[in-house]
Amino acid sequence: MKPKIADYKNEPIDEVVTLNQPQKAFDYDNGEKILEVKHLKQYFRFGRGYLKAVHDVSFDVYKGEVFGLVGESGCGKTTTGRSIIKLYRITSGDVIFKGVRIAAGTRWNEKEIKYTKIRLNQDLKLLKEQEQQELTNANPNSIQQIKDKYAALRKEKIEPAEKIISEQREAIKNAHHDDRHCNDDIAKEAVKAVKEKYKHLFANGRPLSNSEEYQNYKKELKEAKQQSITRSIQMIFQDPIASLNPRMTIRNIIAEGLIIRGVKDDEFIDREVKRVLELVGLLPEHANRYPHEFSGGQRQRIGIARAIIMNPELIIADEPVSALDVSIQAQVINLLNDLRNELGLTILFIAHNLSVVKYFCDRIAVMYYGELMEVATSDELFKHPLHPYTKSLLSAVPHPDPNVERGRKRIVYHPEKDHDYSKQGPSLHEVSPGHFVRCNDEELTRYMNEIKDKE
Ligand SMILES: Nc1ncnc2c1ncn2[C@@H]1O[C@H](COP(=O)(O)OP(=O)(O)O)[C@@H](O)[C@H]1O
Ligand SMILES: [Mg+2]
Repeated sequence: MKPKIADYKNEPIDEVVTLNQPQKAFDYDNGEKILEVKHLKQYFRFGRGYLKAVHDVSFDVYKGEVFGLVGESGCGKTTTGRSIIKLYRITSGDVIFKGVRIAAGTRWNEKEIKYTKIRLNQDLKLLKEQEQQELTNANPNSIQQIKDKYAALRKEKIEPAEKIISEQREAIKNAHHDDRHCNDDIAKEAVKAVKEKYKHLFANGRPLSNSEEYQNYKKELKEAKQQSITRSIQMIFQDPIASLNPRMTIRNIIAEGLIIRGVKDDEFIDREVKRVLELVGLLPEHANRYPHEFSGGQRQRIGIARAIIMNPELIIADEPVSALDVSIQAQVINLLNDLRNELGLTILFIAHNLSVVKYFCDRIAVMYYGELMEVATSDELFKHPLHPYTKSLLSAVPHPDPNVERGRKRIVYHPEKDHDYSKQGPSLHEVSPGHFVRCNDEELTRYMNEIKDKE
């Protein structure tokens, strides 16, 4: 079932999505990678085979940036987001958060073991047949000699195969270990960072326990010990109606994460709920109401409050504005942008529409059928779109000027016609610094010239 871009209502959003605080150019040279996704594959069992929801996706997100993941419905955006927060056991690849591997797939290691065993069995079977043959034709004196020769030949096959198998088993073991222990590792790293930050306090023996700095140190250390994936990475969902339990008060909805974490202090919870309600532009008295009393935009604010109460470092916002009216979309995007600046958040922003992400995202990755087609800064992508799929997505963006809009032509992407991959297949290439396109060598040369011509 092929998704169509035309399934979406396209409304000119450009005129309404203007940010209150204009985006500064992100400093990638001094940036710190907070999230690394490496060759992520997520397959789902489907009948007898697999549905390759995410086929091979790699990208890095820097601390403090807004990274957009854009593509049509069904291309694997949500699956990518859910794989990062470990809702699935990933098929293969690695997800690294703040230097700690939080998810690792083992499918290829398992395959390597399987095929090594199959190859070994075939080799041994062949040797056995050859040995039998030689033995039947041999004179009795040379029987032992033949047997020794074949024992040596068998050893030659078995030893390297066993080495491969044990290496692969080790890799699988490590992957399972990281999968299970990543929360401890994240807490450990966080504790280390706090100790490093306050090292000077301990330079001359124990510090005064009533000093303000020491109190801060204790507070930050306690926070660090509780760090985990489920706290540090929060997700905001598309449908603010479906994602809020109608029978719970706003207070309890927002506080759910804290309560699950074991916080029992009601006064603390009330204070935190009030704090985040204010941060998202709602009122403290809203805490006692129920979801149905709020508009779509307000519900999405509640969803955001629920995420930021956990003090996350990374927010995965999965089409947070797709269900909202255009004017409300702009408000919610502005809110996210303010929060990002105030709280130093990093945001992975998922959208099916390029116009929504244009002003908000520092970089954009364009996804098509489980693979990335193009990655570039937002400016660069809109100035020099190279991949025909990106061009097709761009041509779907309505123009705010009615005169231009009337002449807008939709470009349709035809993978079979637009590429000739009969001689060489595509992979992600860096066409200009920081601008990556999925292409083969012939296309790469063409794209490089295309950029040169435009300058
Ligand atoms: N839990 C699941 N089990 C089986 N198939 C799934 C599951 N989740 C998603 N898919 C399939 O994976 C593909 C990608 O889905 P999704 O990540 O939701 O796309 P997007 O968010 O880009 O619309 C779709 O074909 C979808 O039907
Ligand atoms: Mg989705």
